[in-house]
Amino acid sequence: MTGHFESEDWRSFDLGHPGGEITTRWLLEKSGLKRGSRILDLCCGAGDSLEVFRKAGFEICGVDRANVLEHAKTKHPGIKEKSLCSWEAGEKIPFPDKTFDAVLCECSLSLFEGERRANIQKEISRVLKEEGLLLLSDITDEMPVTLSGFDLLHWQDGSEHIKPFIARWIWMTERKYPQSCEGDRYFLGVYKKRGSDHGF
Ligand SMILES: C[S@@+](CC[C@H](N)C(=O)[O-])C[C@H]1O[C@@H](n2cnc3c(N)ncnc32)[C@H](O)[C@@H]1O
Repeated sequence: MTGHFESEDWRSFDLGHPGGEITTRWLLEKSGLKRGSRILDLCCGAGDSLEVFRKAGFEICGVDRANVLEHAKTKHPGIKEKSLCSWEAGEKIPFPDKTFDAVLCECSLSLFEGERRANIQKEISRVLKEEGLLLLSDITDEMPVTLSGFDLLHWQDGSEHIKPFIARWIWMTERKYPQSCEGDRYFLGVYKKRGSDHGF
């Protein structure tokens, strides 16, 4: 799926993800995370979800491609420059082990396949504290989505958000929705990192 995201055409980092703030807030509520917890948004796009977490009193960091982060800085000036770090899939996530209470992945994990995806999941696990949480919302064929090294605590079928999202994409971009992003089902899940004896 990544080819499309390498093209200059790609604008959906500014169109968010299906359900927008509604699905982000569902993940936040189910996570039970307390104000002040440290959250990493992996592929944070325009920074919309970071802004939700920032305003709710969380300590936030976002990683994405450098040009996308420039956009997030302009769109959400309340997000501090040092909270945004350039990252390209295949690289190590630029934080030490066990830094975060939670990692948020909204429409980002499904962009990666095979070994690349497995390595990203390992990196997420590495930067999470013991029993840290992975908050996932993503296009899927599988319901619920299982992730190796993580236990699923809460989940919801969010597929009703897909059609309005596609309609918004077409309205805003005046382009056909990219076939490479199509999927019938949208999944929301809160996972807990498994102890190291059960890990990868
Ligand atoms: C569908 S958008 C989701 C953005 C954000 N999570 C949201 O929900 O609004 C996918 C994001 O993944 C990022 N991305 C895609 N391929 C990437 C790669 N190879 N390395 C780093 N980021 C990538 C894009 O820049 C984009 O911000």
